[in-house]
Amino acid sequence: MASIAERVRAVVEEHRGDRGALMPILHDLQEEFGYIADEMVPALARELNLSRADVHGVVTFYTDFRSEPAGTTVVKLCRAEACQSVGAERVVAHAEQTLGSKLGKTTADGAVTVEQVFCLGNCALGPAAQVNGRMYGHVTPERFDSLIAEAKAEHA
Ligand code: FES
Repeated sequence: MASIAERVRAVVEEHRGDRGALMPILHDLQEEFGYIADEMVPALARELNLSRADVHGVVTFYTDFRSEPAGTTVVKLCRAEACQSVGAERVVAHAEQTLGSKLGKTTADGAVTVEQVFCLGNCALGPAAQVNGRMYGHVTPERFDSLIAEAKAEHA
């Protein structure tokens, strides 16, 4: 099996000559590995002639990219204005408290990752959430708990 450094080199090669290649390269790597591992950063910096800080900055700035593997269940909670006005922050606070992990992080057992997003295109039914790619509306703290329980049961 190819090492991570070899895969990074191969993906960079596919985008050689593209302008602004870093973003598509990161998307490709995330699709393949599920996240951008720390060890990819120096390899990318070297291949693309960028500083490590530049690469790291892009990975951490865009919420599209994860720097650690995602949990079995991935929940995206909308924090944009329309959802905020109908209680999204209560759901976020509840999620962090009950799961014991911060937004963008995965629970210690690897079961759940909760991420923030800014609009899921479901504004009329806020607070909106997506659980493993499925969209839900009117998400209250209680509904959040049942969505997590259902998702866990599905993967049990
Ligand atoms: S503002 Fe939350 S889905 Fe649009």
